Amino acid sequence: MVSSSSRGKASVRRTHRGEGHPARDGEESGRILSPYHRHDPKNEPGNIYPPYKSSLARGPRKPLIVLPHTLSEITGPVFGHGEIGEMDNDLTRQHAGEPLGERITVSGKVLDDNGRTVSNTLIEIWQCNAAGRYAHMVDQHPAPLDPSFSGAGRTLTDAQGNYHFTTIKPGPYPWKNHPNAWRPAHIHFSLFGTAFATRLITQMYFPGDPLFPFDPIFNSVRDPKARERMISKFDLALTRPDWSLGFRFDIVLRGREETPFENKR
Ligand SMILES: [Fe+2]
Repeated sequence: MVSSSSRGKASVRRTHRGEGHPARDGEESGRILSPYHRHDPKNEPGNIYPPYKSSLARGPRKPLIVLPHTLSEITGPVFGHGEIGEMDNDLTRQHAGEPLGERITVSGKVLDDNGRTVSNTLIEIWQCNAAGRYAHMVDQHPAPLDPSFSGAGRTLTDAQGNYHFTTIKPGPYPWKNHPNAWRPAHIHFSLFGTAFATRLITQMYFPGDPLFPFDPIFNSVRDPKARERMISKFDLALTRPDWSLGFRFDIVLRGREETPFENKR
């Protein structure tokens, strides 16, 4: 099956056999697939967080219905290396000229919450430019566009779950949530994981941002330790001498509920 990713770029194949497959839900090739951990509410922003005004209109007001994890949720798209272009993870080299701003390297590891590395998973990022403006018609913030910067990239994790991006540090930008509202600098991340149930869309922040206390989106995650995990760490070891500063951002996706350990049976 071929469909589009959330940003309409990548072709995907499902790992299961699609319509009419005779296997029971959760069973594939004679192997029983276990469901994934559910979201931990401590780590998630509430559906409605009044300081974040749009959540009042968008958030569901009735309790959510918990659905069983069937084959549709515990399988997912597989992305081939052939789909990813050579420059897709270097946002500074997608145009003839170089973008303005502070060049950075963003790297990390993708793990599940059983501590296992997640390899060959698609990561997509999108961000504004160094002046705080998105290359998008809806963004009319009076800051300059950069003709050498589109602000979108993607890559696959390697066999050890590692990923790397080179980009420009995004600027803070104003938004109309409340008077004098500014978003802390951030990069949007989308991860497909190994199954539809593990899909994660989040934002990566930068250490020491003075806007953290004032940002309702950042603070909609109520647990301070969970908020901390959205902040990248400056890492001198990732810095490329004379080229870019390095920031580490490790990401944890949901793992399977039934994890067999070697010493368990
Ligand atoms: Fe944003």
